[in-house]
Amino acid sequence: MRKLSFKLGLLFFVFVLGVETVLFVALYVTLVHAKVDEEFEQLLARGNNHRAVLESHYDEVTLEHVVMMESEAETDVVITDEKGDILYFSDHILPFAKKIIPHADARHIPHSGMVVQNNWKNESYIATASPIRMDGKTKGYVYMFQRTASIQNMIAKLKHHFLVVGIVSVFLTILTMFFLSRVITIPLIRMKQATEKLSKGDFSVRLQVKGEDELAQLGKAIQTLATDLEYLKKERNEFLASISHELRTPLTYVKGYADVARRPNIAEEERAKYLSIIYEEAEHMQKLVKDLFELAKMDQHSFQIKKEPTSLCLFLKKIYEKMYPAFHTKNMSLVYRCEENVTVHIDQQRFEQVMMNLLDNALKYSRQGSTVSIDVKTEKKNVILIISDEGIGIPEKDLPHIFERFYRVDKSRSRTGGGTGLGLAIAKEIVEAHGGSIHAISEFGKGTSIIITLPRGE
Ligand SMILES: Nc1ncnc2c1ncn2[C@@H]1O[C@H](COP(=O)(O)OP(=O)(O)O)[C@@H](O)[C@H]1O
Ligand SMILES: [Mg+2]
Repeated sequence: MRKLSFKLGLLFFVFVLGVETVLFVALYVTLVHAKVDEEFEQLLARGNNHRAVLESHYDEVTLEHVVMMESEAETDVVITDEKGDILYFSDHILPFAKKIIPHADARHIPHSGMVVQNNWKNESYIATASPIRMDGKTKGYVYMFQRTASIQNMIAKLKHHFLVVGIVSVFLTILTMFFLSRVITIPLIRMKQATEKLSKGDFSVRLQVKGEDELAQLGKAIQTLATDLEYLKKERNEFLASISHELRTPLTYVKGYADVARRPNIAEEERAKYLSIIYEEAEHMQKLVKDLFELAKMDQHSFQIKKEPTSLCLFLKKIYEKMYPAFHTKNMSLVYRCEENVTVHIDQQRFEQVMMNLLDNALKYSRQGSTVSIDVKTEKKNVILIISDEGIGIPEKDLPHIFERFYRVDKSRSRTGGGTGLGLAIAKEIVEAHGGSIHAISEFGKGTSIIITLPRGE
């Protein structure tokens, strides 16, 4: 993770530094140009001023006056006649002026003057020329000179400033990038630590997530994952605990009765009794294991139901025919009313299991002589199946729990009836896999109705 923040920081830094450099160089070049141009303009303006004065008073006094002014100033002046012979000059400018003036093509110099030496980088002076015109004829030229040292000085200062500002801004950039990359990577580092914890089986991960950006969403997703895993782990542990609990009782019976049955001096009759108990218990365990396997299959994501269009009435008829004998044996009646023949999309095999579980309960928890009925109601979008009995009913406090695994109102009664406490849990899983829902209404002592709602659609 250190690496990521370093990579990000470096990437940002290189990019920003590039942009900064381009901007700085552009600014520097523009500034230098502007400054130098300004110097040229000032020099030219000064020359033009002298020229204007001379054009109105071209006499000895004025000429000397101009030269004197320039002796005091930082600039220098040379005044030539129309052929370029030097008439007047200030100070020690003569050697340089002699170098420049013969090369300045006087005929091309416009009245507004021009720069005749602009190489401020290598020469020691820059120079401008302004022609003196009187009565339409060129009388002479005013050449102005300025030391380039001062310009170079100014540029050097400018360079220095830029260097300082540049270094400061590089430093600030590094600082900014450092913090920025940390700000971005710190939540990532936290999440990485969290997922490492998760993979080690520690689900007590708490991530503080702020904001709504992608990072925050990722954080929230990890948090949800952790919470879900924690819940699943808890549930699995509880489930395992109940399974071992459920198996303990029959195993105790089996072991105990087997121990008695193997004694040599025991009546054959007794032995047969014990063996049949053992057989019953083994059967119970077999059923338990079968139900557990059923549930385990449904817990997997691969659990898929194969829905097919089914005539509900025909389906119920088949169930009825299967279950009728059992009811008959207990002197109970089973009726089904299917007035409107609807087609539902169900996995017949699994749905048969649902019906069997429910009818088995109705049979088990009802008195002799009572009636169990199956009714079908159709709504616009749903088909409703109601299985009602006139049995013992379910106490109000137990009603919300009966669809939980291993939940039984009366453990011993369920056991004698061969119940595992998983029947309704399995039924619920299957109905929900069909996109439907299941619930129970019951009045204690009077009877129970289990209501299944199935969507009519495909
Ligand atoms: N029709 C019913 N009448 C009364 N009680 C019922 C009925 N159906 C279910 N129950 C209660 O709900 C519990 C859970 O049902 P189920 O999951 O099928 O387990 P079991 O293996 O005990 O039948 C039962 O033990 C019983 O107490
Ligand atoms: Mg049952």
